[in-house]
Amino acid sequence: MSVTHAPTTADALAGQDPELAEILLGELDRQSSTLQLIAAENFCSPAVLAALGSSLANKYAEGYPGARHHGGCELVDVAERLAVDRAKSLFGAEHANVQSHSGSSAVLAAYAVLLRPGDTVLALGLPYGGHLTHGSPANFSGRWFDFVGYGVDAETGLIDHDQVRTLARTHRPKAIVCGSIAYPRHIDYAFFREVADEVGAYLIADAAHPIGLVAGGAAPSPVPYADIVCATTHKVLRGPRGGMILCGSELAERVDRAVFPFTQGGAQMHTIAAKAVAFGEAATPAFTAYAHQVVANARVLAAALADEGLVVTTGGTDTHLVTADPAPLGVDGRTARGRLAAAGMVLDCCALPHADLRGLRLGTAAVTTQGMAEKEMTGIAALLAGVVRGEVESARAREEVRDLVGGFPPYPA
Ligand SMILES: Cc1ncc(COP(=O)(O)O)c(C=O)c1O
Repeated sequence: MSVTHAPTTADALAGQDPELAEILLGELDRQSSTLQLIAAENFCSPAVLAALGSSLANKYAEGYPGARHHGGCELVDVAERLAVDRAKSLFGAEHANVQSHSGSSAVLAAYAVLLRPGDTVLALGLPYGGHLTHGSPANFSGRWFDFVGYGVDAETGLIDHDQVRTLARTHRPKAIVCGSIAYPRHIDYAFFREVADEVGAYLIADAAHPIGLVAGGAAPSPVPYADIVCATTHKVLRGPRGGMILCGSELAERVDRAVFPFTQGGAQMHTIAAKAVAFGEAATPAFTAYAHQVVANARVLAAALADEGLVVTTGGTDTHLVTADPAPLGVDGRTARGRLAAAGMVLDCCALPHADLRGLRLGTAAVTTQGMAEKEMTGIAALLAGVVRGEVESARAREEVRDLVGGFPPYPA
């Protein structure tokens, strides 16, 4: 099977560097023969992959369309303008910057626009699902800014709005960040806007996870509420790996300067072209149907896991994300993840609001792209629970997984 879906490209690699070609084919086989339940992953389309593996990868293009520091940018300028226009129209934003190399780079640029080193920022604490860029001491954010963490209610798992308001009034942050790597519910952007306005803070929405659902009309949009929206293009949105920033026209110039030249160099034009392709796909009725199916699948998966005895955080989900504690089945999250990996079920661990031990984080974007629906989610939950309990031997589970995914190839021949 071709990895790049451009036979000449795949053939060129196989002919010149069989060792690496073998690795690419092996990875495609791994992705196709195991169950991809990592909440941040997806299968982008052959068209997106074609743009990524294109001649645009050769082009240097520092700057922005019409104002580059290199010659020969006429065509990549058109590609970037297309990506920007499609992003603006898809999300109803006055301005879009599509150059951020990653979600983290987008957040860095947002901070560069609105903050100065030493400023106080209020964000979801890392133990409750905040991202590294939301104040981890191991990350630039924790080193350069003074982060105060809000949390979730230990019983319900829902963001503690009273605590957010109290901390905002006490610490008077320069910015409030809403967004998470694991929060399965919709974020109340209007609430965060209200608190930010009350204390004179900027509001940054880090919508890396739900932005694909927003594109498909399956989740509320942060665009009308946040000063800056940061996002990734490779999760539910199903584009290439990369970041994106949306904002109003009054911050447009500052955002662009914060991306280039403040935090990045030359734009990756092949990725920007691939983002344009993904935005085009996301504007179709088929994508809207997919986004709603992602949520429907996650809801069924969450309910079925709860029926199997796992403790599902917040009691369910509004999004593609499900987080759950497998402790009632007799093991902690790390042990469960190991058993599931041996069975070909690939997922992550995550922090749990109510326990010190780690839980499991699952997402339904990739399996939905493959065409799986509610029936398959129920089967996945039953198999997962059997494996975690140690009732289904991993070799047998591995076969069941292979049979299941065999019916839903991510890249049909
Ligand atoms: C909320 C949030 N912010 C930022 C990021 C960073 O994205 P990247 O890995 O592309 O840097 C992620 C990635 O998972 C995320 O979930």
